[in-house]
Amino acid sequence: MTQVKVYPSLLSADFLTLNDELEALENAKVDGVHFDVMDGQFVPNISIGVPILDAVRKGTQLPIDVHLMIEHPEQYIPTIAEHGADLISVHVEATPHIHRAIQLIKQHDAKAGVVINPGTPISEIVPVLRDVDYVLVMTVNPGFGGQPFIENCIEKIDQLMELKSSQSLSFSIEVDGGINDKTAPVVKEHGADMLVVGSHFFQQSDYAAVTNQLKG
Ligand code: DX5
Ligand code: ZN
Repeated sequence: MTQVKVYPSLLSADFLTLNDELEALENAKVDGVHFDVMDGQFVPNISIGVPILDAVRKGTQLPIDVHLMIEHPEQYIPTIAEHGADLISVHVEATPHIHRAIQLIKQHDAKAGVVINPGTPISEIVPVLRDVDYVLVMTVNPGFGGQPFIENCIEKIDQLMELKSSQSLSFSIEVDGGINDKTAPVVKEHGADMLVVGSHFFQQSDYAAVTNQLKG
């Protein structure tokens, strides 16, 4: 099994003490921070955007993994990249031009990811698997932290692993939603190598312990 990377989702962090949170995450040796952008259109919630991204960029050296849950993502990719994102992922459901969006991310020197919702089949992203650095398999319907893991999304990890091997592809598989001490071992066993962890992570007081447990 490959070593997994852990990306705590800042949506569940304490925004009043964000700088301390970022320092604690660095000390806990997480692999990066996950940054959820929601527009109230693509998903039924709004969250954080460029001013907070600027603050996070100033507050940490950790890679920032931006998950765009917005309509017309192409319009915002250059800005998000210029404000410090290291990885940017775009939902296949959010644009008719997913290939163009992925190229745009790469042109701005960020790692490119494609995201699929629980209701979207893997076949929708097969045409771009060769182009992406990672596939983000949503294991909840996007929009909110703290939702329960949707079991049947695991099958998509299996399908992606098969495609990786049959087509000799090297993308990473990230999972996001309901990841905790029970679900992390399961998704890892199936082949996920990037874990986004929101509510479970920030509910713990010892971030190093939870990071080690999730990686373990
Ligand atoms: C949900 C977001 C997630 C969220 C995960 O739409 O994409 O990143 O923060 O939170 P948990 O781990 O609590 O499900
Ligand atoms: Zn996310």
